[in-house]
Amino acid sequence: MLTIGVDIGGTKVAAGVVDDNGEIVAHTRRPTAADRPEVVAETVADVVRELSDGRDIEAVGVGAAGFIDETRSMVRFAPNLAWREEPLQKKISGLVGLPVVIENDANAMAWGESRFGAGRDQSHVVCMTLGTGIGGGMVFDGALYRGRWGMGAELGHMQVRPGGRACGCGNVGCWEQYASGQSLVKDAREIAEAHPERARTLLGLAGGTIEGEEVTEAARLGDEASLAAFDSFADWLGQGMADLAAILDPGCFIIGGGVSRAADLFLDRARRVFAERLTGRGHRPLAEIRLAQLGASAGLVGAADLARRR
Ligand code: BGC
Ligand code: NA
Ligand code: ZN
Repeated sequence: MLTIGVDIGGTKVAAGVVDDNGEIVAHTRRPTAADRPEVVAETVADVVRELSDGRDIEAVGVGAAGFIDETRSMVRFAPNLAWREEPLQKKISGLVGLPVVIENDANAMAWGESRFGAGRDQSHVVCMTLGTGIGGGMVFDGALYRGRWGMGAELGHMQVRPGGRACGCGNVGCWEQYASGQSLVKDAREIAEAHPERARTLLGLAGGTIEGEEVTEAARLGDEASLAAFDSFADWLGQGMADLAAILDPGCFIIGGGVSRAADLFLDRARRVFAERLTGRGHRPLAEIRLAQLGASAGLVGAADLARRR
């Protein structure tokens, strides 16, 4: 039995045909302008048509970076994209003539990792995907936690710092302003501006404006400002996980998303901070903190499997 999983990212749509073991049997991708929702629906329809050619496809699962309604059909709101009350499910199913399920991108990733990746052996999993923002997904006893209205697990919008940085969601001080790819760049820029002498390597690499990959590269070369940005990131990440553990008591955290490729620069410290800040420490087991295993495919694999179980 085959389903198609689609992951709508900021710059591309990635899609794959997935079997019931979570194996990708075919895949494709297209560039997209995520700020133009109509075009996104058409792009999704286009990849679905390409991938269904000569195959018997049962349903389509789509992961999208926003607040999805409880019927899994509308993107009600997206902090970092232009979607507002966007009837994505209707548009796509109208174009492809197959059942379509829309899911939050991080929920889809968490489901993929729990079923087929780093969380396979775990009953209580909390996933974070660290990219532009922080996506969250939680799988407990084999069930994806969606909340009453489908909008649960928006971990990135915990308001961790009163009066802090403005967030795309309209609030200030959200976690994703301190432990995401975007925040790493902001931190590095701030430090480089205040103390250029600590950021010589970074400024040299960046030329003009500092971007994400350069912070990672400069940190690996020992750039002080970039290392400080990663330390701050690790501290906020560890602190956030300690708070989540106080509420959710997971057996395992899984960290994915683009920034997880730089785990060598933050993971040990984040684990240490987590252990130091965990309430009741010393009298409880420590949740494991693992890296995602399915890489960039986790979202589409999870979305495809959720469509199968719709
Ligand atoms: C959004 C989430 C999304 C995450 C990762 C956050 O800003 O609120 O819905 O899952 O970014 O894309
Ligand atoms: Na989520
Ligand atoms: Zn926010």
